[in-house]
Amino acid sequence: MGTSSYDFAIEEIKRRLSIVDLISTYISLKRSGRTYTGLCPFHDDKNPSMQVNEEKGLYHCFSCGAGGDIFSFLVNYRNLTFREALEELAQKLNITLSTDKTKKEKSSNRTNLLKVNNLAISFFHKNLLKNKNSAPARDYLAGRGITSEIAKEFKLGYVGEGWDNLFSIFKEKNVPFQYGAETGLLVRKDGRDEYYDRFRHRIMFPIIDVNGDIIGFGGRVLSENDKPKYLNSPESSLYKKRSSFYGLFNSIEHIKKSGRVILVEGYMDFLSLFSGGIKNVAATLGTSFSADHSRILKRYTKNVVILYDGDESGIKAALRTGEILLQTGINPKMVILPDGTDPDRYILDNGQDSLESLIDDSMDLVEYFINKMSGEFNSGRFSRPELADHLIEFAHKIESSVEKSHYVKQCSNTFGFRESDLHSLLNTGPARSDTPGKPKAAGTVEVDSYELLILKICLKYPELITAAIADTINDYIGNPNILEIVKKNISGNYEDINSLINSISDPDSQTLISKAVFSSDDIIDKNFAEKMLKECINRLKLRKVKEKLLSKRNQIQHLKTDSDLDTEKSLLEDYRNLILEEKQLKSELR
Ligand code: GTP
Ligand code: MN
Repeated sequence: MGTSSYDFAIEEIKRRLSIVDLISTYISLKRSGRTYTGLCPFHDDKNPSMQVNEEKGLYHCFSCGAGGDIFSFLVNYRNLTFREALEELAQKLNITLSTDKTKKEKSSNRTNLLKVNNLAISFFHKNLLKNKNSAPARDYLAGRGITSEIAKEFKLGYVGEGWDNLFSIFKEKNVPFQYGAETGLLVRKDGRDEYYDRFRHRIMFPIIDVNGDIIGFGGRVLSENDKPKYLNSPESSLYKKRSSFYGLFNSIEHIKKSGRVILVEGYMDFLSLFSGGIKNVAATLGTSFSADHSRILKRYTKNVVILYDGDESGIKAALRTGEILLQTGINPKMVILPDGTDPDRYILDNGQDSLESLIDDSMDLVEYFINKMSGEFNSGRFSRPELADHLIEFAHKIESSVEKSHYVKQCSNTFGFRESDLHSLLNTGPARSDTPGKPKAAGTVEVDSYELLILKICLKYPELITAAIADTINDYIGNPNILEIVKKNISGNYEDINSLINSISDPDSQTLISKAVFSSDDIIDKNFAEKMLKECINRLKLRKVKEKLLSKRNQIQHLKTDSDLDTEKSLLEDYRNLILEEKQLKSELR
């Protein structure tokens, strides 16, 4: 989330600000014993189902599952970014967001680097619009449908041929070359105190973060013969490609207003859609879509439509992106463009209405995946057990349990697998505390009940999580946030559980923690906790073993008649070992 340098401020704010006071400014709370209750603002609440725990600094809704700390309350209630919430509270409490010396230096360094980027873009931008030598660049953009209004709105630029166009500006203005090197605008020659321009003879696209700061650049060649087609700024303290989008700063309001975001891959795709009237768009930057990207989009909307190139690699990339979205609780839609075209080309050739109707007709990723599997299976691309493996593998990526069981039903209808077989392959485990079918409110998370129980125990009796448990926990806990919290608890030097809670700022983790803390009354004492912990671990391990057994059984049953003996032997060997492991675990559970 990129806020680690603010850990100190975050903890300080949580220590000093009462969550009851904060939430009371938005909704009315009544005291009942040690907790406060009120009507939950995150769903249509008839009876007060939200509880607030002053001491722990957490809230939790027993009806819709929303929960977290003061920051996640503000983020969800007022639709702020984490950073905005942090800044607002810091200001309120008179806390500077950079307190010690190194942090101050960091922030003044940031200011310097931003200044350098601003200087560069004013030069590139003016050069594009005003310089008579830039006519080819202007013609190029015009030829691609980019008007000068769009060029101005997105501060597009141009840098001509030569190794020192920007470098001369640095010299002229007496800007330390070091800053240029740190932002990647200049490249330092090996071992010497000499520099040259990284971007040469390119159209320049400034990359602007959600606060409006220019954090990096992309540069496109004018001639298709030059390589690479796009050159991006290297990673720097300003520019992290895993969490940056192109154009989001200009499209955020449109995304919020429309309640949907169209996700594209390229700079030009973005600009063509935006200037063609589809403004709720965001582009990743020549990098694969990451979980960080997903978390950022989730702040604005959960409706994501993936619109990538209509070729094989575009579809592959769209599936990868789709899986990451699924893993972070978003069920995206996918538009498949006609082969060989991309969003940029499509809207230029066919217009806004045509693209919009494709977007409106887009299919759920899940539906797309099933169709694809069906096509590949029918054409003999793989065997039935392989099909089952693919289907199950995909199911594991669906975070929401409601979506997951819907998917299983669809698989069963389409391929004739028994639903119960698929479920046992997946082993969705014991009943969940959430009522299925209910829409998820802002700030809720779905979680396996054994994994949640382990988290509860970890928060109530951290000393029970031994190093031995920590070492193997990756094998059977699937929820990455729970894994992180449990591990942090062991390795971290937290004096008490409140400081562990205070140190965690990821909103999903916060929601999990509040859920765990508010429902841990059933962990009556340490003795009981110890027994429960052992049982949970065993059950989770058993589930893993069962999954493996089913998949092995599938493989064995569908061994090809001409398969070699060694393969068969080793499969049977694995199978026997798994059976033994299962027996052992079962006997321990008795
Ligand atoms: P145009 O030809 O300008 O329309 O680009 P495009 O968006 O059609 O390009 P393509 O579909 O090939 O690539 C999509 C995105 O991937 C681009 O917008 C870039 O962000 C990125 N990309 C493409 N080529 C390169 C490259 O050579 N290097 C890097 N770093 N990124 C690239
Ligand atoms: Mn293109």
